Parts: sequence; C-alpha cells; structure tokens
Amino acid sequence: MINALKGMKDLLDNEAKHYEKIIKVCEEVASNYGFSFINIPHLELKELFKRSVGESSDIVGKEMYEFIDKGQNEVCLRPEGTAGAVRAYIEHKFDKNLAVKKWFYHGSMFRYERPQKGRLREFHQFGVESFGLDNIYEDASIILILAEIFSRLEIKFKLKLNSLGCSCCMPIFRQKLIEFLNSKDGFCDDCKRRKELNPIRVLDCKNEHCQSLILNAPTMRENLCQNCKKDFEKLQEILSQNKLEFELDDRLVRGLDYYLKTAFEFVSDEIGAKAAIAGGGRYDRLIEYLGGKSGFGIGFAMGIERIITILEQKESLQERSGIYLCFMDEIYLDKLFSLAINLRKKHKVILSYDAKKLAKHLENADKTKCKIFLCMGENEAKSESLFYKNLENKEEKSVKISQLESVL
Ligand code: HAM
Repeated sequence: MINALKGMKDLLDNEAKHYEKIIKVCEEVASNYGFSFINIPHLELKELFKRSVGESSDIVGKEMYEFIDKGQNEVCLRPEGTAGAVRAYIEHKFDKNLAVKKWFYHGSMFRYERPQKGRLREFHQFGVESFGLDNIYEDASIILILAEIFSRLEIKFKLKLNSLGCSCCMPIFRQKLIEFLNSKDGFCDDCKRRKELNPIRVLDCKNEHCQSLILNAPTMRENLCQNCKKDFEKLQEILSQNKLEFELDDRLVRGLDYYLKTAFEFVSDEIGAKAAIAGGGRYDRLIEYLGGKSGFGIGFAMGIERIITILEQKESLQERSGIYLCFMDEIYLDKLFSLAINLRKKHKVILSYDAKKLAKHLENADKTKCKIFLCMGENEAKSESLFYKNLENKEEKSVKISQLESVL
C-alpha cells in the first residue's frame, strides 16, 4: 500500500468543504479591495527564493524542496507566493512605470518542516500582493482585508504589529544590534548563523536561553527614523479609527528576510500556543533586489489548513450535546443504569456498558460528541458522587449524585 508522504495530506469531505468556503470568502473580500486573481507556477528557479526569502531564513536554510530538473536547472517547489508574484511583476514589465497591481493567489506551498499540528510540508495559502503604492493607507488596507476575512469566518485573532524601519534607519539599528549581540555569549547554533546573515532574526528565536540573552536588546521602534516613525504612528491611528485592536511587538521580525517597515502577524490561541494564522508586511526593496526598477510592495499570506482546523474545532464544539455516562468497574452498572433512565426524562444520555479506564472513556465520549462526561470510579462510589467533565469548556469537578440536576 502506498501512503501519502509525511507532512502531506488529502483534504477531503468536511475539510474540503471548509477549504472552498474559505477561498470564497477570501476572494470576495480581496475583490472588494480591488485585487484580482493571479496564478503563479509552483516550480521556480531556486535562486529566486534564495535571493528573496533570504539565506538566513529557515526556509532557504533547511526547508526547500529543491532538485535539478532534466535541463540541469536548479529548481524548487515554491515555499511561499511573494517571490513568484514579484518575479511576475518584473517579468511582465509592470515595474518599469511603477504600475499599481493588486493580485491574490491561493494554492500549495512546500516547506520541508518537521510535521506537527498546524505544520505541514505541503500546505495551502491564500495571499495578496499589492505593488506600486507607497502609502500607509495601503498598509492599513492589507491588514484590514485579513481582519474582514476573519470576521466573516468568525475567527478570533490577535494582531501583532511592528515596524522594521526603512533602508535608512534599519542599517543603523542593525549595527547597534550587532554590537549588542557581540557582547553576549551562548547563542544557539541557529542564532550564530543568523547573527552573521541577518542579525534581526535573532530577535524572534524561540530558544529560552537566547531569549534571556536578548532581554535588553535595542528595539527597532526606538531607532526608527522620522519618516518611519510618522508612518508607523499613522498606521496605528488608522487601525484604531477603524476599530481594529492590535498589540505592538518589538520581537516580531518575521521569518523571511525581505521585509522592511510594516510587519504584522495574526495569531490564534485555538491551534496550540499563539500559532500564526497569517502574516505579512512591506517588501519594497525586493523588486530592485530581484532585478526590477525600484518600487513598492506589500502583502500577506494566510495558512488555510490552520483556519480549517479552527473551523472544525468550532463546529465540533457547537454540535456537542447530551451526557456520556460510564464507570470504571462493572459493579456500578446497575446503579448507573437506573440513574441513566432517570436522567433520560430530561436529557440525552449515552450509557457505556463496559468498564474502562478513564482516558479510554474520555476518548469515546469525545467521539460521541457529548457535552457532559460523568464517570463512577471507586472514590466516587464511596462518596455517592460522579466525576464530572464539561467537554466544551474542560471544567472538571466531583458532583454529588443528589445534586446532579443542578449542574446539568
Ligand atoms: P509566512 O509567515 O511564512 O509568510 O506564512 C504565512 C502563513 O502560512 C503562516 O502565518 C501560517 O499560517 C502558514 N504556514 C506557514 N508555514 C506553514 C506550514 N508548514 N504548515 C501550515 N501552515 C503554514 C509568507 O509566506 C509570506 N509570503 C507572506 C507575505 C505575503 N508577505 C508579504 N506578502
């Protein structure tokens, strides 16, 4: 039997339905903001990503799906969409007259990461890229598109915001940071590499020891030039005026090297600790860097599988109802059988006839989509009570059988 590769999965049934719904919502909102569809190839020259995403990034450093094709070209499955969109902007000569182009795209991206919850090797993004506009209102619009998409999908998020400075102030900050980093010892191997290639990436290292070393590191915010400072303040003002809450985060530098000025991330608590569900920022210098005329670009990409997981979780919570009643020793069956009959006068009750360990019962209860879990073990039997767990909000307690009705 041949299985799918590790970190690659089929999107089917409910997940596929969610996928279609998410894309529809994203397309509608992006179109209302003046964006239109672009389809970019999945395969590009490796050099494109090396130069744009950057050698200091984990993506280029360790995660590229790269190979030599039959024409001896070094190629790579796209790990993200921005580089391809910038290449297209230049290749079709839109850079020559600073054309305003607003594109959205969606589809597979490939990163050879360690697969885990919310982290796949082939995943899907919906992204937008806006070219030719050097206006802070465009930065605000890009962020507001995402906020509108998440509001339509009823997904709660936290918005984190930072400014990485421009080609004027970023190098000065960079130098100060290098001096600071050189005064410390004991960085992890990744940070040692980042220190050489792109020192600001050290600021978002997740290693606890590295974090303790950079506690008092200089921040970009304190080092912004007048223009960047003015723009960053204006951006915050526009977002506030449009009722979008945000949190300033000096450590938000993003994992790709091409950003400057506005950088942002939308995070959610619903798929593990503060996972990013979308991220983006401004990348003006990338156009020149990839051989175009100097110009302006800003965009975002959203991780579709992460959104699907949140929607599925919400759906399963909404559907929960009824009681799962069970025991850890068969001697309690008669007692609980009678209790079930009583409870069923008002409630839906699924009674398990088999004695099992608590964890196994909890697993089964989860599958039945019951809301309340009640179990009798030895301690509970002695005190005429039941172990109670609300499978929706995870509250746990011991409840006297005589007081059961009042908690149901
Ligand atoms: P990124 O932050 O690398 O940005 O990815 C954007 C989103 O893709 C993440 O917030 C996350 O939701 C999702 N994602 C990333 N890696 C994985 C993975 N291995 N498995 C599942 N989901 C993942 C970019 O890709 C930039 N191109 C965004 C951008 C567009 N900046 C400007 N324009």
